[in-house]
Order: sequence, then structure tokens, then C-alpha cells
Amino acid sequence: MRISVIGCGYLGAVHAACMAKLGHEVVGIDVDERKIADLSSSKAPFYEPGLEELLREVQDSSRLTFTTDMAAAAGSDVHFICVGTPQKKGENGADMSYVDASLFALLPYLQEGNVVVGKSTVPVGTAERLAGLVSEQEPSAHLVWNPEFLREGHAVSDTLQPDRFVYGVPDGSEDHPAVGRLDEVYSAPITAGTPRLVTDHATAELVKAAANSFLATKISFINAMAEVCEATGADVSRLADAIGLDDRIGRKFLNAGIGFGGGCLPKDIRAFMARAGELGADQALTFLREVDAINMRRRTRVVELTREICGGSLLGQRITVLGAAFKPESDDVRDSPALSIAAQLQLQGAVVTVTDPKALSNAARRFPELQYEPDFASAVQASDALLLLTEWAEYRNLDPYDLGSRVSSLRILDGRNVLDPAKWRAAGWHYRGLGRP
Ligand code: UDX
Repeated sequence: MRISVIGCGYLGAVHAACMAKLGHEVVGIDVDERKIADLSSSKAPFYEPGLEELLREVQDSSRLTFTTDMAAAAGSDVHFICVGTPQKKGENGADMSYVDASLFALLPYLQEGNVVVGKSTVPVGTAERLAGLVSEQEPSAHLVWNPEFLREGHAVSDTLQPDRFVYGVPDGSEDHPAVGRLDEVYSAPITAGTPRLVTDHATAELVKAAANSFLATKISFINAMAEVCEATGADVSRLADAIGLDDRIGRKFLNAGIGFGGGCLPKDIRAFMARAGELGADQALTFLREVDAINMRRRTRVVELTREICGGSLLGQRITVLGAAFKPESDDVRDSPALSIAAQLQLQGAVVTVTDPKALSNAARRFPELQYEPDFASAVQASDALLLLTEWAEYRNLDPYDLGSRVSSLRILDGRNVLDPAKWRAAGWHYRGLGRP
């Protein structure tokens, strides 16, 4: 099939490459000339394992092109909308200007029987509004809402082999003509057994908001348990292992630590609360305010604990922050708890150096006032305290004996609870985890 993908950020670039991998003829369209130039030469504008190899593979086969010209969408059977919906400045709601602008730009190129597929995370009600605009322009065209659930760091495999497909169509019916067209697009994963659910527009939009809210709640739940563990001397990691063995609960997303960040969970739960307020259903989601508050409290807690392990004052203490990305295998620093903690420590008088295998240039753009050191050995040299804040494999596997000879004081705060406390203490370190004795 001929497919256009509008918006070539995280979601769109990966989606375009994966659709070409599935055998379609794909054009990726974005207003950002630099992004398009990078993608056209098979360079990913962000770090995502496997993406550059995939871009090379599908561009060699000429099934994938990129352009800034929306006219290239003409002639595609299916048009995916993959632009961002960031948090509005100074408000909790989502900024819909990119979604609206991309749809308006696409409308003149719609042809008979085309299917427009929304993948961006949007406030419930958006699909119905956009469907009206599509059918006004081209009465035989359809709009489907097909949320994306990809995780950064696993984006390629999450797109090629997702857990499920959700198609939101106006009447929620399997017989809607757009269902068959999308089945053709995804025929390889569907044949391989990926479940597919057809719903109405509003349900499809809510699936994404509900899934991210549930994940955020799970993380804040275990972080709340970490607070209680700290008050009682219990160990939140063992607690999570034990409750996680109940398969109604499950162990995934029960890692206590510095909390969630990134370009999705924080802004999505806030946009969900804002939308529920507009709909008069705000009471239903007041618990998400607490989820958000527990999450933000983690950051303050780490600053307090760092002060504690530094003997009561941060002034002049040389602190090395291991990790800037919001999670490993990503160079994304949007709402990164690691960077937010680094900035607070610096404001309180510490001399902070941040290191990370991939995310330093993005971090430096966002927090230019912090000091960055790409070389690990130089970053830890003569440090008064190490803070492990993003659990990259190279930090999880650090050797406490080797590291001990390079730092000035043997103090480590494990913000992700990924180190073995007994091993580090045996090597002479003052080890602190979160919610661990
Ligand atoms: C998330 C959703 O998982 C994905 O389905 C959706 O499409 C987009 O948002 P992503 O932002 O890539 O994906 O990150 P995710 O892996 O969910 O992690 C989010 C944050 O939670 C990270 O900061 C991570 O470090 C943190 N986290 C995750 C925890 O603190 N504890 C955990 O147990 C799991």
C-alpha cells in the first residue's frame, strides 16, 4: 500500500521505517528540514536501538522517502498522523496545535476512499472533531484512531510486534470499511497473532490515556510503599518481588526509585486530568494528582538523602550524577528526573557533574548551567558522592572495588535500586537505596 506518515519525531520516524519494513511504499513528511535531511540520509535524529539499521535497510530498497512537502501525501491510501501533543505552557492540557495544523495541511490532498489514521496521544473527543473535518473535505474518506503504545528504547520491536492494535472507528463496528484497510496495513503482525480490538473513537482515545495512567499509578504505588519502607526499615525491592509473584499484580513497573519521567507519562496524566475536568468528570481522576505528587516527591527525597550522605551540607560537595536520560537506551531528557535532581543539587550549592553514554548533548541544551563530562573516568574522579539516576547497563555493572580507588569518598546513592547493597558495603561504600534499609 502507499502510505504517508505525517510528523517524523519519535513516533513518526519509527512508524514510517516499520511500515516500509512491512512492505509498504512510505513517504515520511515533516516541517523540520533538518530532521528530514537526517532521515533521508538514514540518520536517526534521536538515539533508538536498531532504528538506523532499519532506515538503511528500507531506504536501500527504495520503499521509504522523506520530504517537507505535504503534496507528497497525494496518492497515498492511508495517512498516519504522528505529530506531538506536548503539555501546554503553564497549563496541564495538551497542546493540539500540531495535530490540527497537520490535518489542515493534509486535507487538500485527500482522495476518494482514503483513510486518515490518528496515532498521536490526544484528549478524548479529538477524533470525532477531526472526523468531521475529514468528511467535510472528502465524504468518502474515513478517520480512525489507532493509538501507539511504543516504549522508547524498544520502539522498533514495539511497532513491528505490538501487544495489541486498537482501531477506533465512528460506529465501533468491525464492518466499518476502514477496519479492512488498516488490517491490510498491519497484515503481517495480525497474521502473526497480534490481537486487534475495534472500538468507537472515544474508547480508542481513552485506551491510551488509561494505559499510561495505570502504568504511572503502578510506579507511584511502589514509590509510596518505598516511603513507608523507609519509615519502618523494610525493603521495597523485596516487597515488590513478593507482591509481584501474585499474577494479578505482576512484577513489571514495580521498580521503586526516583520516579517516572519522559515525554509521555507525566504530560499524559496531566492532560487526562485536564480533559476530565472539562468533561465534568474531574473527581474520577483526582487520584492522578496524588500519583503525580508522589512522583515529584521522589526528586526532593533524593536531594535530601544526598545532603544526608554528604554529612548534612551540600555546599561545595562534588557530586557525580550517573545518567541524564529519563531511562536507559534513550537519549531523551524530557522531564528527566535525573536532570531535575542534578539541577536542584547545583542550586543548593553542590558542584555537580553529569555523565551519560548518550544523552549529554540533549541535556546540555535543556540545562546549560550544569557541567557535563562524557568520559566516565573523568566524571567520577575525586567525587564526594555518586548518584546512580539512570540505570544504564554500564552503571548497573560497575565494580565497587575499581571505582573505590578513583573517588574521593566512598558514597553512593542508588536512585534506581539496581545495585547489590551487600556487595557495595563489603567494598567499603556507604550505600543508600530508596526504600531500602
Ligand atoms: C511510556 C509507555 O510505557 C508507552 O506504552 C507509551 O506509549 C509511552 O509512554 P516510555 O515513555 O518510553 O513509554 O517509558 P516507560 O518505559 O514507560 O518508562 C517511563 C518512566 O517510568 C521512566 O522514567 C522509567 O524510568 C520509569 N519507571 C518505569 C520506573 O520508575 N519504574 C518502573 O518500574 C518502570
